[in-house]
Amino acid sequence: MDIKLKIWRQKNATTKGRFEDYELSDVSPEMSFLEMLDYLNKQLIEEGKEPVTFEHDCREGICGTCGLYINGRPHGPQQHTTTCELHMRAFKDGDTIVVEPWRSKAFPIIKDLAVDRSAFDKIMQAGGFVNIATGSAPEANSIPINKKISDRAFDASVCIGCGACVAACKNSSAMLFVAAKVSQFALLPQGKVEAADRVQRMVEKMDELGFGFCSNTYACEFDCPKGISVEFIAQMNREFLSAKLCSHKGH
Ligand code: SF4
Ligand code: FES
Repeated sequence: MDIKLKIWRQKNATTKGRFEDYELSDVSPEMSFLEMLDYLNKQLIEEGKEPVTFEHDCREGICGTCGLYINGRPHGPQQHTTTCELHMRAFKDGDTIVVEPWRSKAFPIIKDLAVDRSAFDKIMQAGGFVNIATGSAPEANSIPINKKISDRAFDASVCIGCGACVAACKNSSAMLFVAAKVSQFALLPQGKVEAADRVQRMVEKMDELGFGFCSNTYACEFDCPKGISVEFIAQMNREFLSAKLCSHKGH
């Protein structure tokens, strides 16, 4: 298939960017979106031009680095699909595809399509861990956990930290990401010990880093490649409120 591309090119966070047009022929419908970009870069290198910078690592929907805005949607047109899992068969011969980086004050542009998502790491460093002396490894299944609760914790744990929720949100809110991380820990006994401190520290860090507020448009859930539910935002709000109330009462 033949395709036209409009790709955002930008040297760094302080220079002005612009769209550049490219034409590619002989694109196989079986190529992944990232393989198509590799194919473009090979061509650009052969022509002595600068290749397009984009992030990727696992190419299996696990690492969360490959997020791109494709035709106005984070990770492209297919729901529950990361950019690396998206195939060119999702597009038609002759299509024009517009590719942009995530746009959020908290994710400054590094170059072209790559953005600095270390703000997410800073939120995790503020509390996204379990910090208790556990002794030697306990026997598997020695702490019985209700199946419904373990399933729910698992549903939250599948967040890959890609940032599509921030990119989809008109306020660049990171609520879905933080809610998934908070809930994953708060639901399980090991994580409950520090739950009150954790939620306060992570929410404060999120606010400090310049992410916006949630205004309940559900765009984050719709564009999350892992289908994380906004119900976790409600769970985080409950955790946050009870942590605040307890600290107010001096508990
Ligand atoms: S909640 Fe979904 S969209 Fe947001 S970072 Fe996690 S996986 Fe990506
Ligand atoms: S490259 Fe790892 S999730 Fe896409």
